[in-house]
Amino acid sequence: MDELRGKYIEAIAGAADEAALEELRLAAVGKKGEVSLKMRELGKMSPEERQVAGPALNALKDEINTALTARKVALADAALDERLKTEWLDVTLPSRPRRQGTIHPVSQVTEEVTAIFADMGFAVAEGPQIETDWYNFDALNIPGHHPARAEMDTFYMARGEGDNRPPHVLRTHTSPVQIRSMEAGGAPTRIICPGRVYRADYDQTHTPMFHQVEGLAIDRDISMANLKWVLEEFFTAYFGTNVKTRFRASHFPFTEPSAEVDIQCSFEGGTVKVGEGDDWLEVLGSGMVHPDVLRAGKIDPDEWQGFAFGMGIDRIAMLKYGIPDLRAFFESDLRWLRHYGFAALDVPTLHAGVSR
Ligand code: PHE
Repeated sequence: MDELRGKYIEAIAGAADEAALEELRLAAVGKKGEVSLKMRELGKMSPEERQVAGPALNALKDEINTALTARKVALADAALDERLKTEWLDVTLPSRPRRQGTIHPVSQVTEEVTAIFADMGFAVAEGPQIETDWYNFDALNIPGHHPARAEMDTFYMARGEGDNRPPHVLRTHTSPVQIRSMEAGGAPTRIICPGRVYRADYDQTHTPMFHQVEGLAIDRDISMANLKWVLEEFFTAYFGTNVKTRFRASHFPFTEPSAEVDIQCSFEGGTVKVGEGDDWLEVLGSGMVHPDVLRAGKIDPDEWQGFAFGMGIDRIAMLKYGIPDLRAFFESDLRWLRHYGFAALDVPTLHAGVSR
């Protein structure tokens, strides 16, 4: 028995892994293990012999089992130590540099415009980018045969066979939101609507998708004078300086009379500079809302009147921040975005001053 003990206890203490341990367990205390076989011999012994050998064998079996468990735990601990060593993390290492995104000039300018008009009492309204041709054209006094429909380079939505819904277009301007807000809120009203618009056009100052902000003010005695004041107030606040504007008599089916507004600028050396030079950049269309348009919006033109304007957000962003090519706005070139983008905390406020 001493021999057995010596053999197994030593071997167990030196077992290299779980498989070796299991082999030893089977050899010693498994069904056909050496200790088990010895126990089976107890039956053949005399009672006196058995009294001595029985407890001794049981004690040996316990001892071996204890040693097996101890070795198993020791092996597991060693394995864990080994793993922890390789998984060690140096939390004092500097972190990997992470690029921070910027706010796109269109988003920034939309916020600036909204802040200025909000200060003059205009609320923000929104409408869908996919419009029925009624909201985009008819309700705005542009009937089917009107040349303005063709001039707008409209994107029409594809229609399935048997689709009897009215034709839908990608809105060519934000003006349909005029109708939707009149329908929803009646008069008096004062809203602006910034958003995406679409026309099939592409050059240095035109992209198939661009941004406009619509303005609409309806009350009992609103006039062209109010329109001019609001717009000049806007330009002064937006550019932070007195900018020369040019109101040109124009024509839109949905306003009468109508005016287009240009801003003084120069295009020298590949950059636009506002407030100098003798070039003009058209930035908006405007006028007094046509009675038919008021009617389409369920507002009585004998009681109410007002002005509307539609301004290119991208255009005024180019002008304020000296961005020469509109197409770059939508190319998602990271170098451009980092250069012209704004820090997330550079939030436009009316009291921020004009430090650019
Ligand atoms: N919807 C016109 C355009 O996109 C702009 C406009 C809006 C003109 C409101 C007059 C009044 O060109």
